[in-house]
Amino acid sequence: MNGRRSLRAELAPLDEEFGAEVLAGLSREPKSLPCRYFYDARGSELFEEITELAEYYPTRAELAILRDHAGEIAARVAPGAVLVEFGSGSSRKTEILLDAMPGLAAYVAIDVSACALEGARSRLEARYPRLRVITRTGDFRMPLDLPAELAKAPRLGFFPGSTIGNLTREEAVGLMVDMRRALGKEPRLLIGADLRKDEALLLPAYNDARGVTAAFNLNLLARINRELGADFDLSGFRHEAIFDARQSRIEMRLVSLRGQEARVLGRRFVFAAQERIHTEYSHKYTVLDFQVLARRAGWSPVAVWRDAELLFSVHELIAP
Ligand code: SAH
Ligand code: AVI
Repeated sequence: MNGRRSLRAELAPLDEEFGAEVLAGLSREPKSLPCRYFYDARGSELFEEITELAEYYPTRAELAILRDHAGEIAARVAPGAVLVEFGSGSSRKTEILLDAMPGLAAYVAIDVSACALEGARSRLEARYPRLRVITRTGDFRMPLDLPAELAKAPRLGFFPGSTIGNLTREEAVGLMVDMRRALGKEPRLLIGADLRKDEALLLPAYNDARGVTAAFNLNLLARINRELGADFDLSGFRHEAIFDARQSRIEMRLVSLRGQEARVLGRRFVFAAQERIHTEYSHKYTVLDFQVLARRAGWSPVAVWRDAELLFSVHELIAP
């Protein structure tokens, strides 16, 4: 093998998109990689580990909010509605809503991680034998296709985890416009947004003592090696997470520890010592900031809840 792999000849369609985005991102200045590629089987597993870390407060805070307000949320959802979750991962938070909404016509889980979807489906089918579970593997930015018999059912969108924070503000508005359209005639959306807070709490959440977040970040290079036959030396990069107060966002990067090269799909990329690859933003919003974004996307706030420690927010939105 001469190291020159043709993208089209050797990669399946999904890998082809992955390969093209990796090549494009590493050719940019500064270099960057899209964060949705964190979630291969190993990445989804590492994310679940992150949610259990003492430092990672968002999951615990959002679970508490959902437990406290599930009844109130369910009261506004018509029987026979369809619950559509974007970036559903393990669907653990979903169980709180499913317990409160026994009359749903179906639960639709959308995620790029086939492995996370399969795990969630088998657990939910065992726990809720009467629930129709529909999974869609792919990007939540794609149009939503539902079986014809569900076309007229009211839809409740669920987008927890502050995954919206991983998009830029402009992307977030665009996605919320698409979701409004995907959710039918009287759309309703329940969306989690992490709150702005002191760096003393924020930074450890993205740089935990056990190094799970570092492993999650570095797994992106491991995935590129595994799936695209690249030769990144993982010990040549370190995880970094900083808080950009002006943009109110965490920024995660992989920092090259020395001058080095890596080959990806037959292309050679050079990294200077201390050069960074941007891998993820995680925006932190005030309630008001987030409501401004939601309104720009055509949504009206109905309710907003925060946990007792004011770490996290869950917004209920409708589009009249
Ligand atoms: N909703 C869960 C998981 C959040 S982690 C929770 O709140 O704990 C983010 C999830 O979104 C992952 O499961 C990841 O695979 C998925 N994801 C990220 N970007 C995506 C995209 N563009 N399209 C579909 N799923 C995506
Ligand atoms: C999924 N997303 C909202 C997580 C976050 O907090 O931004 C991903 C993550 N990145 C590092 N730790 C967790």
